Amino acid sequence: MKFVSVAIDGPSGAGKSTVARAAAAKLGYVYVDTGAMYRTIGLAVCRKGVAGEDTEGIKSVLPGLRVGIAYENGAQHVLLNGEDVSSEIRTPEIAYYASRVSAVPEVREFLLSTQRDMAKNGNILMDGRDIGTVILPDAPVKIFLTASSESRAERRYKELIEKGQQVTMESVLHDINERDRQDMNRAIAPLRQAEDAVLLDTSALTLDESIEAVLRIIREKTEENK
Ligand code: DC
Repeated sequence: MKFVSVAIDGPSGAGKSTVARAAAAKLGYVYVDTGAMYRTIGLAVCRKGVAGEDTEGIKSVLPGLRVGIAYENGAQHVLLNGEDVSSEIRTPEIAYYASRVSAVPEVREFLLSTQRDMAKNGNILMDGRDIGTVILPDAPVKIFLTASSESRAERRYKELIEKGQQVTMESVLHDINERDRQDMNRAIAPLRQAEDAVLLDTSALTLDESIEAVLRIIREKTEENK
């Protein structure tokens, strides 16, 4: 049996994970959040006291490191050497570390086969930055999901405030622009739309409309490929 892979790429804060998770649940596909894997390595680096700019230090953390994925009631959990760090990776500090470690080729290489292998075992919906361009270039469905940096900052700001974190709108917008710059300009696997990806701008869409739009694209593409 041939499994379906859906690749969803785009910048941070476009609602990608929320939309992707909901769409995967609707379809009964396994949802893979690859950003969480980079965040897990970022956390490992941070815990070791290695600076985000220290490429050699980052590389030295990789041997012996295990990044695992587990599912509980359909929800993805990430494991760092067996420890569930799913909540701990959701801070601005670890987002910064994730962005830094993701620019190191050895880190990307480290995660590549795990990510590719996940697509061999079932229908999956994988979200990240390079899924359609590098990890699953043959995916029959590719979506580039984006939104203006202002609307992304607004959403991220609300999310962080609800979690009780102390941030300002300016700092959130600054972080988003900074991460976009890093993700798009890095030498390896930069964030870019695959040629055969469908562009979806969610700036003016509600969450439900974004999920509907993603499901529509997946339905159309899988019909085309039948
Ligand atoms: O989607 P996110 O914010 O959780 O991702 C965290 C960081 O990891 C982000 O700076 C981009 C990077 N990343 C990547 O380089 N490639 C992926 N496939 C997923 C995330």
